[in-house]
Amino acid sequence: MVLFKVSRVETTPFDGQKPGTSGLRKKVKVFVQLHYLQNFVQSTFNALTAEKVRGATLVVSGDGRYFSKDAIQIIIKMAAANGVRRVWVGQNGLLSTPAVSAVIRERVGADGSKATGAFILTASHNPGGPHEDFGIKYNMENGGPAPEGITDKIYENTKTIKEYLLAEDLPDVDISTIGVTSFEGPEGQFDIDVFDSATDYVKLMKLIFDFQSIQKLLSSPKFTFCYDALHGVAGAYAKRIFVEELGAQESSLLNCVPKEDFGGGHPDPNLTYAKELVARMGLDDSNSQEEPPEFGAAADGDADRNMILGKRFFVTPSDSVAIIAANAVQSIPYFSAGLKGVARSMPTSAAIDVVAKHLNLNFFEVPTGWKFFGNLMDAGLCSVCGEESFGTGSDHIREKDGIWAVLAWLSILAYRNKDNLDGDKLVTVEDIVREHWATYGRHYYTRYDYENVDSVGAKALMAYLVKLQSSLAEVNSIVKSICSDVADVVHADEFEYKDPVDGSISKHQGIRYLFGDGSRLVFRLSGTGSEGATIRLYIEQYEKDSSKTGRQPQEALAPLVEVALNLSKMEEFTGRSAPTVIT
Ligand code: G6P
Ligand code: ZN
Repeated sequence: MVLFKVSRVETTPFDGQKPGTSGLRKKVKVFVQLHYLQNFVQSTFNALTAEKVRGATLVVSGDGRYFSKDAIQIIIKMAAANGVRRVWVGQNGLLSTPAVSAVIRERVGADGSKATGAFILTASHNPGGPHEDFGIKYNMENGGPAPEGITDKIYENTKTIKEYLLAEDLPDVDISTIGVTSFEGPEGQFDIDVFDSATDYVKLMKLIFDFQSIQKLLSSPKFTFCYDALHGVAGAYAKRIFVEELGAQESSLLNCVPKEDFGGGHPDPNLTYAKELVARMGLDDSNSQEEPPEFGAAADGDADRNMILGKRFFVTPSDSVAIIAANAVQSIPYFSAGLKGVARSMPTSAAIDVVAKHLNLNFFEVPTGWKFFGNLMDAGLCSVCGEESFGTGSDHIREKDGIWAVLAWLSILAYRNKDNLDGDKLVTVEDIVREHWATYGRHYYTRYDYENVDSVGAKALMAYLVKLQSSLAEVNSIVKSICSDVADVVHADEFEYKDPVDGSISKHQGIRYLFGDGSRLVFRLSGTGSEGATIRLYIEQYEKDSSKTGRQPQEALAPLVEVALNLSKMEEFTGRSAPTVIT
């Protein structure tokens, strides 16, 4: 066995290594600076309890973006030097974020070993390549992102770091070939176990879903399917699951070869960036004569986000999670005993609230960010949850899960068509959504994003709205002067959340105006923007009358949009007469 030594490498702190719960994200040119990644990794090791490092099993992999392969070799050498017992690496360094979560929770090594944490190398839906973004985040034993207590400690450590440990003479390990390589260090054996990126995840999906019934649906000549991985890591799973396990045609996979630069694209599954899929689904202006597939979906770079489409039909993420929750028990074996509860982030539409009420389920409204769902799930309070930002998931892991969401939709379609596969016409995605609206009412929904706004103006707008919401009489008199057709505002506040599990309080999570008819206006500052401030305005109107649920959202929402823009003095504070993006 090759022997390695441990060196202490002197270093000095870098500014700005503060990780959020989605980790540390910076341009590649920042990460490639000498000691930059090393400082962050050592600061993480130093923030963990000893048993999570010495003798521990650590997962290291990611979405395969540029710089990942170099980063993996560096982390392996640092793990060895810090006394980690073994490192698990997905083949070619690829593991989707949900797959990492699954591997931490489910994978058992040949000798019975279990992982206690993971470094996930991803910047999610941000572009990749030498001039784009890289990212790293640490996930804990439950498979979820490190809580704030840990990320704060990591940050503190980055400010004072003086040295890191490195097994300098450890040779680079071939991560393209499956197998275990062993070395001998001062504290004993150190293994690198390169394993198939998909096996553990596929195994878990097969425990959750009825693959046979989905396979029947996919084999029906009337059902056509298309999946776009946007050259992200979802490609490493799509072929295995959709083609090999479920029998979809290989031609139904778009951009499913993972690339370091995501083919130069922006790997975010929405109507703007998933251009090829949107065109194939008949949702662009090209008026193509070709018949679109019945079902289409896309994922982001690390495969935790999803977009669901029907033929010429967009399913909003808020509707998607509500529909999954409403159909889960019948359609998905994992949920057959019932749902423990459901949850959504505050700005996500209240479509799932109506389902929860109807089905008498526990319901939680949490701040934006997946970590709040994780706490509920660990306490056994929540089975299905989702966010308007294209995240959907369940308590099978502690991250949102893009492929899971697609399998959930395919399960619902399979269930609805199980006695109908030889009939004239299949029940479609659009049919399911329209039926849902007819039963539960429809939440018309739109989001206006004002990106890279001057921070001073953005803060002033928020402060103005906080002050204004304290007097409902004043709010209503302004609202009525803008548009007399809208309902009264019955409640306004700055959203604050008390975690029912650990009692922690999260303040300043956005401003809400709730109307008597169930409509809502929400204003919040994005927590993920990289330049200036991004203001997000979420506009939602509830329509119970089933004869009125078929309108165009922008038309149905026009009065509320006008109220929102005037009430907030958007143009005055931001200097913008129009949003950067409307979704
Ligand atoms: C990340 C998190 C999501 C969250 C989103 C919000 O993607 O993983 O859970 O919904 O950020 O982003 P925003 O820019 O609105 O703060
Ligand atoms: Zn992501």
